[in-house]
Amino acid sequence: MPKTTNRRAERQWAAVDGYIGDLFIPDDPAWVLKNASAAGLPPISVSPAQGKLLFLLAKVSGAKKILELGTLAGYSSIWLARSLPKGGRLVTLELLERHAAVARRNLARAGVASLVDVRVGPALDLLPRLHTDRLQRFDFIFIDADKARYPEYFAWAVKLARPGALIVADNVIREGAVIDARSKDGAVRGVRTFNRLVASERRVSATEIQTVGAKGYDGFALVLVKK
Ligand code: SAH
Ligand code: DHB
Ligand code: MG
Repeated sequence: MPKTTNRRAERQWAAVDGYIGDLFIPDDPAWVLKNASAAGLPPISVSPAQGKLLFLLAKVSGAKKILELGTLAGYSSIWLARSLPKGGRLVTLELLERHAAVARRNLARAGVASLVDVRVGPALDLLPRLHTDRLQRFDFIFIDADKARYPEYFAWAVKLARPGALIVADNVIREGAVIDARSKDGAVRGVRTFNRLVASERRVSATEIQTVGAKGYDGFALVLVKK
């Protein structure tokens, strides 16, 4: 797949994201990204505008219990935790203890640590345990861990969601590579299978939105679990 975007366009998207941030996101926890980078974590957190979008979506859905797959430094976790009503909780799953340790520090500094349960391990090992716990029915699920396993994560998300829940998945467009049926890239293949699964799942109603900005060209899946 030829790269269809260029550096000039990317610079402009980033500049406009800066403009959006200055206008609408005075409460951006930007220091989280500095800590992440200082700790050697990759710069793949959602952008400020995307973090605020997650916050708004979780608010609109009235989510009291939120599940996140892929914590990294806790940047998106902080946005999700901020959306919680009194008594709400976020469970976030992270493969690497090294990432989880950075996230815990950041969550504490953001003043939301008491609302967040950071669990460490492969998400596919942790998800069945959430399922056994009958009290766990999530109102909002954010999928943002390893892309090759998105199909399995979606199956689990549907199981763990209450009717009426919203499932959001990051990185479902991959600079447009998602339309390349012959891609050998495991992430692209995972996302393509995920997209087909979502599209054919009768218990949900979904769409995807392409995004440009500080993180380049990608997109979100928005998946409503029917009542
Ligand atoms: N949601 C974060 C970014 C997550 S980056 C934010 O926007 O701020 C993806 C994260 O998923 C990385 O920290 C990576 O270690 C984690 N990850 C990768 N494979 C995983 C797995 N099998 N189970 C759980 N987490 C995984
Ligand atoms: C990658 C992961 C992400 O969650 C993301 O938003 C961007 C990039 C990655 O693994 O490369
Ligand atoms: Mg992502």
